[in-house]
Amino acid sequence: SPVVGETQAQAKVETNVEPISKEVTILFGSQTGNAQSLANSTGKTLKDRGFEVTVSSMSEFKPNNLKKVKNLLIIASTHGEGEPPDNAISFHEFLHGRRAPKLEDLRFSVLSLGDSSYEFFCQTGKEFDQKLEELGGTRIFNRVDCDLDFDEPAAEWVEGVLAGLSDAQQSQGSGSVVGETTATPQLAESAYSRTNPFKAEVLDNLNLNGRGSNKETRHLEISLEGSGLTYQPGDSLGIYPENDPVLVDLLLEEMNWDAEEIVTLNKQGDVSPLKEALQLHFEITVLTKPLLEQASKLSANEDLKKLLEDSETLKAYINGRDLLDLVRDFGPWGVSPQEFISILRKMPARLYSIASSLEANPEEVHLTIGAVRYETHGRERNGVCSILCSERLQPGDTLPIYIQNNQNFKLPQNPDTPIIMVGPGTGVAPFRSFMQEREETGAEGKSWMFFGDQHFVTDFLYQTEWQKWIKDGVLTRMDVAFSRDQEEKVYVQHRMQDHSKELFEWLQEGAVVYICGDEKHMAHDVHQTLIDIIEKEGGLSREKAESYLADMQQNKRYQRDVY
Ligand code: 2AM
Repeated sequence: SPVVGETQAQAKVETNVEPISKEVTILFGSQTGNAQSLANSTGKTLKDRGFEVTVSSMSEFKPNNLKKVKNLLIIASTHGEGEPPDNAISFHEFLHGRRAPKLEDLRFSVLSLGDSSYEFFCQTGKEFDQKLEELGGTRIFNRVDCDLDFDEPAAEWVEGVLAGLSDAQQSQGSGSVVGETTATPQLAESAYSRTNPFKAEVLDNLNLNGRGSNKETRHLEISLEGSGLTYQPGDSLGIYPENDPVLVDLLLEEMNWDAEEIVTLNKQGDVSPLKEALQLHFEITVLTKPLLEQASKLSANEDLKKLLEDSETLKAYINGRDLLDLVRDFGPWGVSPQEFISILRKMPARLYSIASSLEANPEEVHLTIGAVRYETHGRERNGVCSILCSERLQPGDTLPIYIQNNQNFKLPQNPDTPIIMVGPGTGVAPFRSFMQEREETGAEGKSWMFFGDQHFVTDFLYQTEWQKWIKDGVLTRMDVAFSRDQEEKVYVQHRMQDHSKELFEWLQEGAVVYICGDEKHMAHDVHQTLIDIIEKEGGLSREKAESYLADMQQNKRYQRDVY
C-alpha cells in the first residue's frame, strides 16, 4: 500500500464552544495539476454533504482573508528539491513571514502530494501543516502524505476530514449535514481520466534529430478518436508505460520465479500472470526509502538493515539503482512473488507537455519526448516511457493515456498580449502548441521564441515549422542558441542577454514569459537572467527586480512548465 504520512491518526473531535461553521475553504498549490483536480473533487464531495465550499489556487487567494476562514483545507504538492509549486510560493511566503496572522479560530487539515523517491518527500505539505499549527490552528484531521499513487490515501483523507467536520457539528448540536462517512473523490469529469485511461492508437513516431546527433527526440502523433478527450495548449498528456521486458525477465530469473504464476494486483482483487504484473502494473526502475524498509522485512540479509541505519549511505545507494540491483545485492529472498510485489509502487504515469493544438489537429495529440539512456553502477539504464517510445512503440500500437489539465501554463486570454517563450530541447513542445493555436485562431499578439540545443544541423527541433511561422508572421522573432557549434557554450539565456533592452520593453508592454524544460539548470539560470535584465534595463535594485518578477508570477505573467 502507498506511503501515508507518519501521522495517520484518527480525526480529532472538536470540543470548542464556538459554533462550527459550515464554510470550508480549499486552497491548492499545484504544479502538474494533481493537487488542483483533488481540490476540485474534494470541493464537490463536501458540497454534496451540505458544506459551503470555496476552492481556490493559493496564488489567487487574498492572504488578508485568512483571518475570516473557519475551516481551511490545504492540498499541496512538493516540487523540485522540496520547494512549493509556483502557485503556492506567495502564500507559503506569507504564512512563514512576519505578516502571518494568529489563527486561533482556524480549523484546518493538510493533504500533501509527493514522491517518496525524493529526499524532501511531501516537504511543502509538512511545512504548511506545521506552520498552521504554530499560528494557533486546530487540526480537523491529521495530515496525510501521499506518494505517487495518491488516490487511496487521498480518499481516506477526505473521509477523515468529513468525519472531523461532522463530528464537530454533531457535538455542537448544530444539525448534522453528514450521514455516512464514505467519500471517494470523483477525479474524472469525462469518460477517460487518470484512473480510467484511454487506449489511444499511435499514428506516427519519428526521430526529430538528424544522423550523428548525441540526442534522440521522438515526435509522437497519437489519435484521440472515440475518446471524447479534449485539451488546451499548455496541458499535458499522461502515459502509462510498460517496463522493459528484458529487465522483467532478468528480475524473474534472478528471483527464480515462474513468469506465469498468478498474482493479485490490488485491493479490488484484480489478478494477472506475474510477468505481466511486473511489466505493466508496478514500478521496478526506482528505489525509495519506504520500499527498502519494507524489503528489509522480507530479507534475512543484515546488510540491508545496516544500509537503512544511515540516511546518507541509504541516499547514495538508492540514487540511480533499480529493483534488479536491490534483489541482486541483498538476497537471498525467501519470499513469494505475491509478498514481494505487494511492497512495490503502482506504475506511475509519465506526464509530457503537449506539443500540438487541438484546433490545428482535431482528435490528435502530439508529443516531443527525449530518449533517456545512461550508464550507472555498471549497467545501462533506460528511461521507462521514453525508451518504450523510441525502441518498441510502432504506429498502430496503443498506449493508455489521459489528459492532465495544467492551469499554470496557459496562453493569455487576450490574443493581442505579447508572449515570450523560452524552450530549449524538449522544452520546445508546448510552444509548438502555442504557435499552432495562435495561427489557427488568428491571434495577433507579438511572440518571441528562444530555442536552444546542441547543434544546429542535427538538433533544431521542428525547424521548418518555426521558419514558416516566422515567414507568416505568426511568430515575430526567434533567437536560437546552439551550445556546441562553437568553442564557448551558448545558451538561451545568453541570447536573452544579447537582446536585454528589447526584452525588457516587451515586459513593460505586458508580455507573458513562459519557460519550459529542464528545471535544475536551465530554468534556474533563465530565472536569474530575467532578474539581471530587469535590474539592468529597468534601473532597479536587485531586490526591486526580484519583486518585479515575483509580481509577474503572481499575475500569471511568468509561467513555468519545468521538469
Ligand atoms: P549542452 O548540452 O551543450 O550543455 C538543450 O538540451 C540545450 O540546453 C542544450 O544545448 C544544452 O547545452 C542546453 N543547456 C544545458 N545546460 C543549460 C543551462 N544551465 N541553461 C541553458 N541551457 C542549458
